[in-house]
Amino acid sequence: MPTASLDALSDPARSFVSSGPQRLLIGAEWVDAADGRTFETVDPATGEPICAVAHAGTDDVDRAVRAARAALDGPWSTMPAAGRSRLISTLADLLEANADELAELEALDNGKPKKIAGIVDVPQAVAHLRYYAGWPTKIEGETIPVSWPDMFCYTRKEPVGVCGQIIPWNFPLLMCAWKIAPALAAGCTVVLKPAEQTPLSALRLGRLAQEAGLPEGVLNVLTGDGSTGAALVDHPGVDKIAFTGSTAVGREIGAATGRSLKRATLELGGKSPNIILPDADLKAAIKGSFQGIYFNTGQACQAGSRLFVPREHYDDVVSGLAEAASKARVGPGLEASTQFGPVVSSEQHERVLSYIRSGLESGAEAVAGGDGASEGNGAGYFVNPTLFTGVTDDMPIAREEIFGPVLVAMPYDNIDEVVRRANDTEYGLAAGVWTRDVARAHRLAARLKAGSVYINVWGPSDPAAPFGGYKASGIGREMGHANLDAYLEVKTVWTSLTEAPISSSIA
Ligand code: NAI
Ligand code: MG
Repeated sequence: MPTASLDALSDPARSFVSSGPQRLLIGAEWVDAADGRTFETVDPATGEPICAVAHAGTDDVDRAVRAARAALDGPWSTMPAAGRSRLISTLADLLEANADELAELEALDNGKPKKIAGIVDVPQAVAHLRYYAGWPTKIEGETIPVSWPDMFCYTRKEPVGVCGQIIPWNFPLLMCAWKIAPALAAGCTVVLKPAEQTPLSALRLGRLAQEAGLPEGVLNVLTGDGSTGAALVDHPGVDKIAFTGSTAVGREIGAATGRSLKRATLELGGKSPNIILPDADLKAAIKGSFQGIYFNTGQACQAGSRLFVPREHYDDVVSGLAEAASKARVGPGLEASTQFGPVVSSEQHERVLSYIRSGLESGAEAVAGGDGASEGNGAGYFVNPTLFTGVTDDMPIAREEIFGPVLVAMPYDNIDEVVRRANDTEYGLAAGVWTRDVARAHRLAARLKAGSVYINVWGPSDPAAPFGGYKASGIGREMGHANLDAYLEVKTVWTSLTEAPISSSIA
């Protein structure tokens, strides 16, 4: 029986979800998987199925890659840059026009509060598309001042080709926008593989892309699980893989693309340190650190999951955070009063609860949360915001990415010590600093080994600002022109301007 949450949806979202098994978008067609397989996407607020979704296998991956190749060699390559620009813009407009429905689909499939999806996920996806919609007409090569007489040398920027884009479940629509916007702007074509936990908004995006007038095959959407993603990674017709997800899978993809020499960008996990300095505005630091870990129920790669507090402020900061955590309104994403929704799946629920058990068993104390379902929340995958004290740096809860609403707060005594402990991690996605001293803030920002440093704020994001990881947090950058470059090859063209034949060769 489908989930009771369907009753809470408005008509457009309900009719989309109820329109029968969801199909794959390959070329211009919505089709069943070649072998007819389907899977069920589940409502994390109830644990009940929402609807059946086609499970793409290797034959479907092959057909989608061929469709993407045909579009790349066909209408997409001959379309003027201004045409790509206009289509990406139109897609952004259509997302905006359907924002309410998309926010509902995110709330239903992922569990996040609809209100948050409506003010963060959907508008940021729109902003992302609009930012990259401006780029196609500004992709310029260079003329190169080579030291050869009578030689004209220039570069062209060309699309990398067919891109396989593998998406996680924590910001389903937004991560699709992060991936497709620069690819389309660069003139690439895409086979998009949303996460099996949250396929619905990517399927809706596929329909909107058709409505926007994207030529067939430019964007293909294949729903399925890790095996579908792996088939995409292995397909010889794919030129580049872009992946966001776990570091474990990122390592496998990096190894596979290393062997095949496909291009790859990887946006992976984190265990980000958040450092309060002794002179910080403690009220602001507590509020920011609270959001920094618990936003999206802790399911954010940049979550500030290790909090370092000066020993003299430790008790005040811990009690401020624990009080806020105890007042948090945990509930279904489609309920207006909900502040934090469930985690995405039963697997994630079990994973987060097992980390909480591990913390308790190793002697840490849960001063807030420490348990699963909040009262009255039924069979959904709920976890109360949890705050641990009495944590040592070597405990798994202090070292491993939990990807749930679990914060460890640890005291420190001096700056060199806290820098060493903050950087003592395999990850390097983000770091935070809370202080009123500008010079100390920037000195510390330079010493932290992380792709983003937040000063007196946690986790702002903008399509123009690069985002990505040091160390095991990834390879390459999302956003900004850095991510556009990740979808472009540089071709160098040499032209002899002499009338006599030239005999030199550098080979
Ligand atoms: P995952 O890395 O397995 O899944 C992410 C995406 O990769 C999904 O679309 C999945 O179908 C696909 N995938 C899985 N195995 C693949 C393979 N061998 N080849 C190609 N594609 C593959 O992550 P999962 O299992 O959903 O979550 C586990 C942990 O990963 C989380 O607890 C969290 O720590 C981390 N994670 C990090 C994210 C981030 O934003 N950096 C997002 C999601 C998960
Ligand atoms: Mg789901």
